[in-house]
Amino acid sequence: MEKEMVIVLDYGGQYNQLIARRVRECNVYCEVKPYNSPIEEIKKLSPKGIIITGGPNSVYAEDALLCDKELFTMGVPILGICYGSQLMAHMCGGKVATAPVSEYGHTEVTIDATDSELFAEVPASTSCWMSHTDYIAEAPAGFRVTAHTPVCPVAAMEDQSRKLYATQFHPEVVHTKDGQKMLFNFVRKICGCKGDWRMDSFVETSIQQLREKIGNGKVLCALSGGVDSSVAAVLLSKAVGKQLTCVFVDHGLLRKNEGDEVEAVFGPNGSYDLNFIRVNVQQRFYDKLAGVTDPERKRKIIGEEFIRVFEEEAKKIGAVDYLVQGTIYPDVVESGLDKSATIKSHHNVGGLPDCVDFKEIVEPLRMLFKDEVRRAGLELGIPDYLVFRQPFPGPGLGVRIVGEVTEEKVRIVQDADYIYREELAKAGCDKGLGQYFAALTNMRSVGVMGDFRTYDYAVALRAVNTTDFMTADCAEIPFEVLQKVMNRIINEVKGVNRVLYDLTSKPPGTIEFE
Ligand code: XMP
Repeated sequence: MEKEMVIVLDYGGQYNQLIARRVRECNVYCEVKPYNSPIEEIKKLSPKGIIITGGPNSVYAEDALLCDKELFTMGVPILGICYGSQLMAHMCGGKVATAPVSEYGHTEVTIDATDSELFAEVPASTSCWMSHTDYIAEAPAGFRVTAHTPVCPVAAMEDQSRKLYATQFHPEVVHTKDGQKMLFNFVRKICGCKGDWRMDSFVETSIQQLREKIGNGKVLCALSGGVDSSVAAVLLSKAVGKQLTCVFVDHGLLRKNEGDEVEAVFGPNGSYDLNFIRVNVQQRFYDKLAGVTDPERKRKIIGEEFIRVFEEEAKKIGAVDYLVQGTIYPDVVESGLDKSATIKSHHNVGGLPDCVDFKEIVEPLRMLFKDEVRRAGLELGIPDYLVFRQPFPGPGLGVRIVGEVTEEKVRIVQDADYIYREELAKAGCDKGLGQYFAALTNMRSVGVMGDFRTYDYAVALRAVNTTDFMTADCAEIPFEVLQKVMNRIINEVKGVNRVLYDLTSKPPGTIEFE
């Protein structure tokens, strides 16, 4: 794609994705590349600027992650952040040492060089976010110090003639008050990017490129109705129309009416030019899940069965040239980095179908963040309720029904969840919530309805605020709204006599119940 690009060289810092995010907020396209990307490869991309990220290392450690010296003589503007600033100092002949006083968190910073382009329109005294144990003890020859804090003599430095800039603090996090301004100054003023990265141009160029790549080829897409696969499918449909077949597996663990909603948009009476196959295999999944209570086994069964169904359908279609995946940028950046313990065998229902006969995978959203996928979806005219759908786990209601899954329990949780979502929307509390849903506990308890004793299930309501889904806090839903939901569920959903609100944060809880 012919576009201006800024490269983020990833040295393993925790905010690296955020840097890319912030650059794109300046309407400049940005990609994260590994720190050891060969210099030739970087040159080939003709970046307008390079940002070197933070990282956990020390430049003088034996196994320090360094870089090619040539990086600093390419003539491309470079911004080093935190470790990146120390790396710049180290490689250009300055001195890095263990700071006598480490800085973590909010720090007042004084901008000494108010004429610096990086700090244009930034007040001389502002607050920044620091997180470092090493510091630049001496700026390299040719650099001037442009900012300091009470304990950090070189909080920022630059060599205007070589277009090298560095900040010890993190401009990418919101706690650095003028951070976005500084990044804007870097990419738009110093790198001279025009800022023409927009969703409409992404959509247009993607369609064009997909058309060229696919030619007369046949394309297969597993459509889940979630935002990523929906946007991917629509892009493909706009590019190659009926050469695309979407297979939508209705495994009976979707939210109430969801299968019909997906069919209404993508099916024969819908808005797009594509072949749509809805596979109704609800009973097949319920049969497979009968008697199974272990959460991990349930996940595995659902994932594997999903793949089997998809393969069976694909076989009917015959060989295809391309298989579409709704992979998005955070998946790309995180894959391979995620060595943490398996809490749940998460995400991507069971991996790739290995028996589908295809030549190549196409991932049209590979370079987009979630909110960018949503914007592309709107650009493509996909209805709001699909575009802004909250995340829904691959195993669906299977992980929201504690214990054995039965058709009756699915009906209960679907109905309760529908009421909950409806009332939250009516009260206007749904906006901004990370995720909210009803789950069915495996607990039955005694109640009284009319003059009769009941022995029915307890529904649990959950609503969380989260930015990354790795941690989450229980959301404060107004009590009267919860009461209304409780009333309606008890009165309208047969088999429920108790409604509970889950106050647990994550950790120690997880967002889903299983
Ligand atoms: P937890 O429950 O681990 O959920 O706090 C974090 C996020 O991941 C989603 N989730 C899943 N997504 N397959 C998926 O595709 C799964 O098995 C799965 N389990 C949880 C969950 O909805 C939340 O957004």
